Amino acid sequence: MAARASTSKRIGIVGVGMHVPSKVLTNQELARTVETSDEWIRSRTGIRERRIIEPGMATSDLAIPAARQALKSAGLHGKDVDLILVATTSPDMLFPSTACLLQRALGAKSAVCFDLSAACSGSVFAMITARQYLVDGSYKRALVVGAEVLSNFIDWTDRSTCVLFGDGAGACVMAPVSRGGIVATDMGSDGSAADLLYMPGGGSKYPPSHASVDQRLHFLRMNGGEIFKLAVRRMAGSVKTVLKAAHRKPEELECCIPHQANIRIIEAVAKWSGLPMERMFVNVDRYGNTSAASNLIALYEAAEEGRIQRGDLVVLVAFGAGLTWGSVLLEW
Ligand code: UT7
Repeated sequence: MAARASTSKRIGIVGVGMHVPSKVLTNQELARTVETSDEWIRSRTGIRERRIIEPGMATSDLAIPAARQALKSAGLHGKDVDLILVATTSPDMLFPSTACLLQRALGAKSAVCFDLSAACSGSVFAMITARQYLVDGSYKRALVVGAEVLSNFIDWTDRSTCVLFGDGAGACVMAPVSRGGIVATDMGSDGSAADLLYMPGGGSKYPPSHASVDQRLHFLRMNGGEIFKLAVRRMAGSVKTVLKAAHRKPEELECCIPHQANIRIIEAVAKWSGLPMERMFVNVDRYGNTSAASNLIALYEAAEEGRIQRGDLVVLVAFGAGLTWGSVLLEW
């Protein structure tokens, strides 16, 4: 685990955006196709509905409008960014990167573009990565996008996973700022638990074949109970670590923007981090788990709803497959 406190150069978030598909899939609709109920899903996860992409659409179709909105809110155009990072576990294709597809759509001709794979921690990992490049002066303005179409990788006959996930994209523009900005960051990984949440098929180990399809290898698999416990432990630990690195206390935090996987995980993270639930931003009820998009969608909504104000101390905290986890502590 590596926690880093502020360097002399301040890097902040100067624009935010999001985009979700218009199609809403409610718990009641799901209960017509798998053996589940609105009551079970709401009481065990806090999810009421999620957004699902139209057939034929891909991750970049969500990433592009989210990125455009973030650029607009920063008063910038595609040509003004020189680094594009897309965090995703569901890229349009294995290659080229979805970031390069974004570059083409945005006319960001001078940008260096690549995707980052850290599952649900993707946005936080990408923000920390972008910050390092901006601090060392390699690039001046970064566009960071978390975008997922997990609905294409879900076994819609498996009630233990299909009720949890949704599609969406969140984006932010990062640049040097004179006040506020990122105060400290924390990242961690634990590959020894890689088999708790994974998708075996489609890569070089199990390339697509009739057998891989028959064995349902192209769908996400999860040990929900173990992931639940580790998500709580790692996210609460990361919030404590990042606060300690910045010599700040939990009571100084105005808002915690956690990865949105399950309301019970968010409640437990609040408890173990010493934060009241009123300080936790929650939108898992409307979108489910959008993986790498989750923290940036939540950041956009927290800003839009006025839940975070200029100067507020805010923490984004994430956890995902890998395992991966991390935090970004910033003054908004
Ligand atoms: O982004 C990071 C990745 N994901 C997560 O963070 C998710 C972490 N895990 C979780 O959120 C929770 O573990 C779940 C929501 C996945 C499951 O909740 P749980 O309270 O841990 O339930 P469980 O797995 O212990 O299952 C309890 C029962 C089981 O029945 P039996 O064996 O007790 O008879 C399941 O078969 O609930 C059953 N069940 C369902 N019942 C109705 C599992 N899924 C469903 C369902 N509807 N959709």
